Amino acid sequence: MSTFKAPKGTYDLLPPDSATYLAVREAISAPLRNSGYGYIETPGFEDVALFARGVGESTDIVTKEMYAFETKGGDQLALRPEGTASVLRAALEASLHKAGNLPVKLWYSGSYYRYERPQKGRYRHFSQVGAEAIGAEDPALDAELIILADQAYRSLGLREFRILLNSLGDQECRPVYRAALQEFLRGLDLDEETRRRIDINPLRVLDDKRADVQKQLTDAPVLRDYLCDACKAYHEEVRALISAAGVVFEDDERLVRGLDYYTRTTFEFVHDGLGSQSAVGGGGRYDGLSEMIGGPALPSVGWALGVDRTVLALRAEGVELDLPSPTSVFAVPLGEEARRALFGVVTRLRQDGVAADFAYGGKGLKAAMKAANRSGARYTLVAGERDLAEGVVQLKEMESGEQTAVPLDSVVAEVAARLA
Ligand code: HAM
Repeated sequence: MSTFKAPKGTYDLLPPDSATYLAVREAISAPLRNSGYGYIETPGFEDVALFARGVGESTDIVTKEMYAFETKGGDQLALRPEGTASVLRAALEASLHKAGNLPVKLWYSGSYYRYERPQKGRYRHFSQVGAEAIGAEDPALDAELIILADQAYRSLGLREFRILLNSLGDQECRPVYRAALQEFLRGLDLDEETRRRIDINPLRVLDDKRADVQKQLTDAPVLRDYLCDACKAYHEEVRALISAAGVVFEDDERLVRGLDYYTRTTFEFVHDGLGSQSAVGGGGRYDGLSEMIGGPALPSVGWALGVDRTVLALRAEGVELDLPSPTSVFAVPLGEEARRALFGVVTRLRQDGVAADFAYGGKGLKAAMKAANRSGARYTLVAGERDLAEGVVQLKEMESGEQTAVPLDSVVAEVAARLA
């Protein structure tokens, strides 16, 4: 062991578990790739002001959790705590919205960083797969994204997740609600920090997890009663489209997300097997974000699903993904000459697209067969001096133990035929 360990709040992905993470990313992105979303990759860090303005000056993410730093050149940067602001920044910078093809639909997969108090399901380095549909106000787009996330989770075999849905209104009705909520909150018995939050971000108070606060919030005004007609109609249409697709959701008028850019549709995917960090994914509409970061009006919607928590959800439900064995054929050479011959066979198998591996390091038969077993290969090729003298290799089917001598020059074709 080295003297170094993975930093607090982080962990390494190692085989064989890492295969599950790859499969989860694949499963989440597959419905997106199948629905017109193109792949985007942005830097791991950005101008800190992008997140301060985009995610919101008063959010926990910006005030407490951001890895912000000054470079040697004096630039103020931050490791990305989320993907939406970066993706929109990149789309605006490349003028993707001017190509006359709105919405611009993008998907991404990567690492994100938040300086949070680590616990199960909450890490300082975590991984998301996300999607953003930029530049269109259309309830079918909100519905599409929710349906695709549902499809992704179902394709993984997850069943015990719930979809919470809400509308946060727009710049017309939200301020009216905000004022009513502020008035209500000012009449409550709250500590000083929470009182300050009433002025800056009163909706966040609704999200306070403390029981004594929640108790006082029972009669708080709900946004639903304040939605303007346009927001109400929009939300009803989103609900109708999702329902028509057979996707079950719960209306949750208390759902406020931890990022400030949301307008209208907001949703969260929660899994009940995860304890306190139950949100496996979340998203919503952010019609004002583009203007907040200096762009034109570009109503947009998106989500990000947490890969780490999705893997935890799979474990909580006891779902075993059907992952194909990474190796189909394992070669065991006995002696120098066999090593050269079988290495050549393995190389040719790989060139033909057959997943093959080799017993390296001059192992004896016993250790090499152990390695073959561990590899999960369906077939093992064994060859020693005597086999080579006869121009054959032994092809062993691991499950049955059945072994046949196959001519060296036809073994690649024979293995390929058996695997097909
Ligand atoms: P978010 O709700 O902050 O939204 O994060 C989305 C998901 O990332 C969470 O539901 C969770 O699964 C995962 N996640 C967040 N923080 C952590 C953490 N510390 N440890 C492990 N997993 C975590 C966003 O990030 C928005 N950008 C989503 C979005 C896209 N909205 C519109 N477009």
